[in-house]
Amino acid sequence: MVILVTGGTGYIGSHTCLALLEAGFTVIVADNLCNSRAETLDRVMQITNKEIIFYEIDVTNAASVEQIFTDHRIEGVIHFAAYKAVGESVREPLKYYHNNINSTLVLAEACLKHEVRRFVLSSSATVYGENDVPFVESMKLQPTANPYGESKIISERILRDVANANSWFSVAILRYFNPVGAHVSGLIGEEPRGTPGNLMPYITQVAKGKIGKLSVFGGDYPTVDGTGVRDYIHVMDLAEGHVAAMNLLGEGIHTYNLGTGKGTSVLELISIFEEEVGIKVPFEIMERRPGDIAECYAEVSKAKEELYWNVKRDIRDMCRDAWRFESNL
Ligand code: NAD
Ligand code: WQD
Repeated sequence: MVILVTGGTGYIGSHTCLALLEAGFTVIVADNLCNSRAETLDRVMQITNKEIIFYEIDVTNAASVEQIFTDHRIEGVIHFAAYKAVGESVREPLKYYHNNINSTLVLAEACLKHEVRRFVLSSSATVYGENDVPFVESMKLQPTANPYGESKIISERILRDVANANSWFSVAILRYFNPVGAHVSGLIGEEPRGTPGNLMPYITQVAKGKIGKLSVFGGDYPTVDGTGVRDYIHVMDLAEGHVAAMNLLGEGIHTYNLGTGKGTSVLELISIFEEEVGIKVPFEIMERRPGDIAECYAEVSKAKEELYWNVKRDIRDMCRDAWRFESNL
């Protein structure tokens, strides 16, 4: 099957390209490199010994997207390309609405025109807002406090309406929890620009000595130890979830949580990382970060039952693999 992967040079996209190639798919990547590097694809090709066709284009540009659909008989689309920084989305909402929504519109239009039947959208646990944990796919989505989350809710809605109007069009909405870690080779991983906003890359950079210490945002949440609890998922397990969705997606629209179903607190993660890697991570407990919730973890039985997908890697693998990649940089 020939799959168009938008955002395929990015963090999750590059690991998914690797998993798709290993599963025998033909992969075409469209990315404008606004948050990634083309060399990442060389690494993926080196690991798999397979080819990727790369288009350096902006997927909000309908003419550029049309060119790909005319050049190749695309059979499925996985749409990762988006901006993803929550804080930046509050400061620059139009940038987020423009990129994240127009890209979905342009790709859905191309799929309808070229009769491409399978579409997978990267969505996020952020759409659940302040529902009670564990988050279940059927929950009513809450208006979120930030434009990034809202742009995902709107993209989900657009695809729902398109699928409802075209019975042959199958959509998987995949809501990721907290993707971390890297491919076991240490050749590809998460490379945030500037100071990381997310916990795991921050921890690895402190461990490497690039940053003095970690600020733990909040020590007074109603959780196991007062720090925020999240459902960390290994990026390769997440990548394999996309392969499962492409293989098993039924007609209509289907929404799946991709997480482990288990929560880990910030202090637990620091301590597991220290044990696995053998390096101390100095930290200080600070004020809560605005917009954070106490706990976020998934109910994952739907993806297990319908996609026959299950995670294979645990939190210790996530720490070791994240560190292997950081120490190779
Ligand atoms: P990333 O920034 O590493 O990858 C996104 C890629 O899309 C980048 O390579 C970027 O250059 C590209 N891109 C952005 N806009 C584009 C455009 N208009 N045209 C072409 N390319 C464009 O991010 P990621 O962490 O790999 O996230 C991938 C997807 O998963 C995003 O949709 C994100 O919202 C979603 N997601 C990420 C997380 C997370 O924690 N990383 C969690 C939930 C959901
Ligand atoms: C995890 C925990 C922090 C940094 C974000 C997005 C979400 C999704 C995934 C895209 C929290 C704490 C963090 C630090 C800390 N992305 N923390 N010190 O906020 O759960 O989710 O990424 O869809 O939309 O919001 O992830 O890694 O930032 O935080 O104490 O320096 O670590 O407070 O409890 P988050 P995170």
